[in-house]
Amino acid sequence: MASCSSISSVDLQAQVLSCVDRGISSTSNRGHSCQLFLGKMYRFGPGNPSSGVSFLSSFQGASLGNARHRHRKHQCKSKVLKLSSQKASLKDNKSEPEFEQQRTESALDINSSIDRRQLLISSFTAAGLPLISNQSMASPIQPPDLTQCQKADVPGGSSPKCCLPSDPVKATDFQIDASLPMRVRMASHLLDAAYITKYNRAYELMRALPDDDPRSFSQQASVHCAFCQSAYLQKNSNEKLQIHFSWLFYPWHRWYLYFHERILAKMLNDDTFALPFWNWDNQAIFSPLPNVIPAVFIENPALVDNTRAPSHQPPTLVDLTYSGKPGGLDPEQQRAENNNLMHQELVSGAKTPSLFFGQAYRAGDANAPGPGSVERAPHTAVHLWTGGDMGNFGTAGRDPIFYSHHANVDRLWNVWKSLGGRRKDITDPDWLNAEFVFYDENATLIKVKVGDAVSTEKLRYTYQNVPNPWITHISSPLSISIAGTKPVSSNGVASPAAAEATSLLEEIEEFGEEVEGKFKQLAGSAFQSKVKRPVKDLFKTLKKQITDEELEEVLVIQGVEVPSDKISKFDVFINLPDANDKTSINIPEFAGTFVNVPHLGMGPGMNRKATLRIGIGDKLEQLGIKDVSSIVVTLVPKGQGKDVPIVIKGIKIEYE
Ligand code: C2O
Repeated sequence: MASCSSISSVDLQAQVLSCVDRGISSTSNRGHSCQLFLGKMYRFGPGNPSSGVSFLSSFQGASLGNARHRHRKHQCKSKVLKLSSQKASLKDNKSEPEFEQQRTESALDINSSIDRRQLLISSFTAAGLPLISNQSMASPIQPPDLTQCQKADVPGGSSPKCCLPSDPVKATDFQIDASLPMRVRMASHLLDAAYITKYNRAYELMRALPDDDPRSFSQQASVHCAFCQSAYLQKNSNEKLQIHFSWLFYPWHRWYLYFHERILAKMLNDDTFALPFWNWDNQAIFSPLPNVIPAVFIENPALVDNTRAPSHQPPTLVDLTYSGKPGGLDPEQQRAENNNLMHQELVSGAKTPSLFFGQAYRAGDANAPGPGSVERAPHTAVHLWTGGDMGNFGTAGRDPIFYSHHANVDRLWNVWKSLGGRRKDITDPDWLNAEFVFYDENATLIKVKVGDAVSTEKLRYTYQNVPNPWITHISSPLSISIAGTKPVSSNGVASPAAAEATSLLEEIEEFGEEVEGKFKQLAGSAFQSKVKRPVKDLFKTLKKQITDEELEEVLVIQGVEVPSDKISKFDVFINLPDANDKTSINIPEFAGTFVNVPHLGMGPGMNRKATLRIGIGDKLEQLGIKDVSSIVVTLVPKGQGKDVPIVIKGIKIEYE
């Protein structure tokens, strides 16, 4: 673990202290004085000054403005003090050899964690000391104090405002019960009659528990509400705790479903019970269809929720790009768009852990730094498309289909890892050591760690094998792509129209990366910007362990701000300046999407802020524009929230 409090390397202390000694305490951007110190040294030191700026901003990809992170400056200082005293106390309490051994282990630990995090270790200081960025100054998110509920806003103002039963008793650490049978989560459209009866019965029994039982259906729904509507603050912080829109999304939901499933099993007294998954990503054309609301959720009273969108009953196909307005596609087109979206969000656009899981969220951080690809879409679209309770994070847990929807999201984590390359779990200790609490099947409060959830087999469950044909989906080429230097169509053939389009590129202005005071409001109409591709070599030196091949090009839309209580969405296209809200997304020019599901956790009338990061390496290759110096990015507001004011503050490209 490399959080501040565990660092005991003398060298490291010296550096961190020197950072404070020199009185450098800028609070701009992320507000980590140490990090900014690094940036300044680099900028004014020998070497390439402009590269220095890029380097700095590469660590600030998730920068969300000044105020939100200002408190981190103090954190950094106080942790420095803690380091010194920790060293002293180690010395006091241990024999010298023991202390030395521990010190060495800690130093090794720090080094390996620096490697893992791909942080810059370089000789920027006169003393030749390696410096580390702010990341090692942080620490993992801790479980909140359940006795301090903030009265989160719930749609409809229902009581008890999703506060959870607060047990002043200390949570028990999670222990896997290795004697549990291996459970198999099956596709919900393939269940047999006996299983359906059991499934319905489990929810019947759960619904029959008294409301104040933490295992009751209403309390289970409140769990989701509490951690999305910010019923709790982070431990020792005034920041609201939010488990969506960051790297906690995947593991938190895995644990939530784990305990939900164990409670259902307990209701049945059947340890083999496993939650079925709604296989909406599967665009098979034979009955029973996986990509409609499965019959099991319509025909079994305990699995029904009457608030779902009436127009989305079978045989209407799920729209994985849905944003509150029917797309009006015929089934074949819908399947193609769904497949392309899946391919985009799991295969071509999610080649690195952070693109898939979302951005880092550590103790003391402002919430919602930015979601990963699957969380953004299709996960969000399925919520909105199902509608009713599912259409708002505050109420989603009231629909039994929610748990089946999330079982599929959870399954996709396993599928993603099976695709290879850099598609692996995050190794950052602040992710692995993040902790949550849940009530288990015996109504005992249990504390869990993200690191214990990375293997479903270890949690004693697995998924039925189903085809994932979107893995190999190739979108149909659109007629024209434009390139900076080389006019080509997306099927690789130069065309006169493409040549003409190339000249258009010159006329499109560059919006540029985020700077204080600059913003663009998209209110209903598309926005185009030229985006320069930075020199890859610079990023290569920062990412030494990653091969050239594996270094992923990432389009970063900075400072996205949307009203948190409204649906909104925009799609991102590359070299298709004329893209509009009718443009098919089953084309290689489609790069990704941003969708907001209404939630009130940031307070009524508050904006949700995020950074959108989309992997585009494969895309550029497919479009035949790997060698150009700039691309054109078009942002297209869409759907029901098309006219909602969406603000963006910058567009840039970097490598990770
Ligand atoms: Cu916690 Cu699908 O959202």
